[in-house]
Amino acid sequence: MGLLNPTRFGVIGTEPHIQYNFSHPKGLKTMTGVVEVNDVAAREIQRGSLHVFAQNILSVRATNGEWVEVRHGEETLGYGFYSRLSSIPVKIFSRNEGNPEEVIFRRLEGLWREKRRLYSESFRWVFAEGDLLPGLIIDVFGDVAAFRVNVFGLEQFKEQIADFIVEMGVENVVERNDFTAREREGLPKKKGVIRGRKYRTQIEEGSVSFVVDVLHGQKTGFYLDQRENRIFSERFSDAEKVLDVYSYTGGFGIHLGKDGAEVHFVELGKDVINLLRANMKLNNIHGRILPGDAIDVLKGLLRRGEKYDVISLDPPALVKGRGNLEAAKKAYFLVNRLAIKLLRSGGILLTSSCSQPITPKEFLGIVRGAALKEGRRIRLVGGIRSQSGDHTYYPPHPETSYLKHIVAVVE
Ligand SMILES: C[S@@+](CC[C@H](N)C(=O)[O-])C[C@H]1O[C@@H](n2cnc3c(N)ncnc32)[C@H](O)[C@@H]1O
Repeated sequence: MGLLNPTRFGVIGTEPHIQYNFSHPKGLKTMTGVVEVNDVAAREIQRGSLHVFAQNILSVRATNGEWVEVRHGEETLGYGFYSRLSSIPVKIFSRNEGNPEEVIFRRLEGLWREKRRLYSESFRWVFAEGDLLPGLIIDVFGDVAAFRVNVFGLEQFKEQIADFIVEMGVENVVERNDFTAREREGLPKKKGVIRGRKYRTQIEEGSVSFVVDVLHGQKTGFYLDQRENRIFSERFSDAEKVLDVYSYTGGFGIHLGKDGAEVHFVELGKDVINLLRANMKLNNIHGRILPGDAIDVLKGLLRRGEKYDVISLDPPALVKGRGNLEAAKKAYFLVNRLAIKLLRSGGILLTSSCSQPITPKEFLGIVRGAALKEGRRIRLVGGIRSQSGDHTYYPPHPETSYLKHIVAVVE
């Protein structure tokens, strides 16, 4: 492919020990521009931040998308890509390495080994800032991978990244650049299969299997961040009746129903119902789908006097920006309160929030408050759980820690 000359290819199922010889790619920019920053940015970068905000930039000698050296006086603070349109015009990719190909592909190779140590088949190979590759997400689902790019300068490496994914043994590569945030970088929305042909695959998780549609599903097709919490939920599969609210393609309900519980799935998205049905069939799940808005469906179930042994709540991020934080907290409170009402005494509530601005302590406060309002008490099984290990948390970027998951016995 001209960019990398692997002396040995890595294949899923073997542990690759790849040595790459880096050569200059044909047609790719290898110029290095310069961005000078103020004391504030210098301090933040020295503390580990990968973001240089527009207001902290003193001067720019670079074209849009160019690899730049970030300087503070005579000192080089790091290297990254320059995005002219962004409110974060420089994303730092490296502290001391000045060649973008070396930085990107050595890191991809290292992360492959690191993530494969955690998970063998399906995993988040790259979690953007969490893995020190800002703006890049790569998810692997067995023989199909999906990637998203959200940094202008990184876009020019897209084809090489796709080739690299194939070299690591994942034959089918889907581009899922169909998200709005790309517009802030001046990048167009795009999606499609760009290597191989396949976009639908089957993965194993704990004791169950899922069909994943990487091309048409939400985000990159499947919520890998909840994997460990879903596997943990199997401990409650001795239940008789389960409610999986905001179920997507069946995530929690499939695990909870694996030993014969009757599972009711609540989901608004019409486009996911077929996959949900396919996953129910694949795992012999006994139950039904209750389509519609979660709040309306839960109120309807209460009116009918339904009761459940286990309820999972996994709403989409209800906080959309600073403006609706209080409204979002009220929405979490309401849905948790309705679920608690529907739980039998001693029932299990599995409740999640992927809204980053809500802290774990605040989320626990909301769930506790909802229980107290109903005159119920909760006891937590374990602490407040978080996202799967492949969604690496990089402390200088608090946004890389976002998921809260509480397993509570509701008395
Ligand atoms: C974070 S995902 C759930 C992921 C799932 N628990 C899993 O493990 O795969 C949230 C789901 O809620 C659905 N949803 C969004 N708004 C909803 C609403 N008002 N009522 C019901 N479902 C909704 C979305 O379509 C999406 O499938």
